[in-house]
This record gives sequence, structure tokens and C-alpha cells, in this order.
Amino acid sequence: MPDPSSDSLTVAVTGASGALGQALLRRWHGRGAQLIALCHSSAPLQLAGPDGQPIPLRQGHWQVGQEAALEPLLEQVDVLVINHGINVHGDCSAAATGRSLEVNALSAWRLLELFAAVAKRREGVQRREGARRAEVWVNTSEAEIQPAVSPLYEISKRLLGQLLSLRAPELARTLRLRRLVLGPFRSALNPVGVMGADWVAGEILRQADWNCSLIIVTPNPLTYLLMPLATLGRWAYVGLLRRQ
Ligand SMILES: NC(=O)c1ccc[n+]([C@@H]2O[C@H](COP(=O)([O-])OP(=O)(O)OC[C@H]3O[C@@H](n4cnc5c(N)ncnc54)[C@H](OP(=O)(O)O)[C@@H]3O)[C@@H](O)[C@H]2O)c1
Repeated sequence: MPDPSSDSLTVAVTGASGALGQALLRRWHGRGAQLIALCHSSAPLQLAGPDGQPIPLRQGHWQVGQEAALEPLLEQVDVLVINHGINVHGDCSAAATGRSLEVNALSAWRLLELFAAVAKRREGVQRREGARRAEVWVNTSEAEIQPAVSPLYEISKRLLGQLLSLRAPELARTLRLRRLVLGPFRSALNPVGVMGADWVAGEILRQADWNCSLIIVTPNPLTYLLMPLATLGRWAYVGLLRRQ
């Protein structure tokens, strides 16, 4: 992971006011990063550090379908964490289907492509020795390969995971990509999760320090076995069929 203490690193997190978004922002603050909280809700986000002092952050507002409006803000970002998500549980209506696909999969994919385009342009302008490579962390969830007792959550997260695998070979020329595969943690999205969001955020940063591209945090041992196999299988399949 780029070392935030060596230089001021700017980190933007979507779904910033959610449980994991806040936990990640606190952890990045602890490492000295400059923070941008990307929120779809208009409520101001205020975070306090362990000493009770407010954590300095910039808040950017965005809406699904209007990702392009974030372009000027993304110009300043070194690490983009695509973390927003919804869970409509047993709602299988047309409206819930559209919302789940848009929020969980398509908006995340559009942000990924937008940030790659911004990073490519920036790389061209700032081509210099030791220039920092932009990073994207995509929070797909264990639901990519495991049941999550929520059909549309599984479908939309699987789509996001598949899109990431499909686009990774090309995007990785410009961006450092990391996939976050998380098990159940407590939040508004999953009030009965067994892990705490703060602990999960700590584990994510620890595995990023180990230079992992596939970051897995879950109590389910099967995920540690199946997820690498799934990503490897997709990589081989896409690689075989891909036209140059
Ligand atoms: N909790 C779990 O068990 C679990 C497990 C694996 C993966 N995950 C994933 O982890 C991520 C964070 O989830 P969380 O558990 O921290 O849930 P959370 O507390 O509900 O946070 C999700 C955040 O996503 C943003 N969001 C909600 N609806 C949105 C919309 N229509 N458009 C754009 N943004 C929207 C909101 O933040 P803003 O208002 O700031 O935009 C919301 O606070 C999600 O991608 C989730 O799928 C969760």
C-alpha cells in the first residue's frame, strides 16, 4: 500500500456515512491521510477521532447515475474506495432489481472506469520518477460467491465482481486494483453481522500493507479457498476469450 506517512495521500471513500465507510475513514485518518467522504445523502458527516477531536474531512455529494460530476474531485484522489451498497433483502420487485443493479453494480463500475480515465490522464501529465500509482479498492462482498440470504444482493454483487474481473487486465495498466471480499459485519445493511466494522477496516488495511490485491476478511473458511479459485478461473476465462 502507498505509505500515507511519507507524503500526504488523499483517500476518497463512497458510502462514507455507513458503518464500514466511517471505520475506514477513521483508520486512514490514523495514518495521516487526507480524507474525502463521498456521500449520496445530503446530511453532513462528522467524525471524531479516538481523542474525541473532529476528524478533518472534505465531503463530496454524488448520486447514482451522475458519477461523471465527481470527475474534478477524483483528480485529487490517490486511493478511491468504492464501498457504497444496499441490501433489499427479500424484495424481488422490478424497482428493487433496478435499484440493486444500479447502486451495487453499475454505479461502482462507472466510478471505476471514470477513475481509471482520470488516473490515465494524470499519469500522462505527471510522468515522473516515483510518481504514485492511483489505487481503487472495490468492496464486492463475500456474496460474490456465497449465499447472502438476499437474491438481489447476491446477483448485484456477483455482477460487480464479474465486471471487475472482466475489466481488470486493462484497468490494471493504469490502476492498482484491490478487491475487498468481506463476510458479515454489523451495520445498517446487516444488523446481525458477527464482525465489527472497525475491526474489519483494520484487517483490510493490514492486508493492504501486506500488498494483497485480494483482501478477504470473513469468519467463513470456505471463502479463503473459493474466492482465489473463482478469481483465477475468471482471469483464465477472460484471458482466453479476450480480443486484443
Ligand atoms: N455489512 C455486511 O455484512 C457486509 C458484508 C460484506 C460486504 N458489505 C459491503 O460493505 C459496504 C458497506 O456496507 P455497510 O455494511 O457499511 O452498510 P451501511 O452502513 O448501510 O453503509 C452503506 C452506505 O452506502 C451508501 N448508500 C446507500 N444507499 C445508496 C445509494 N442509493 N446510492 C449511493 N450510496 C448509497 C450510504 O452512504 P452515504 O449516505 O454516505 O452515501 C450508506 O451508508 C457495502 O458495499 C456492502 O455491500 C457489507
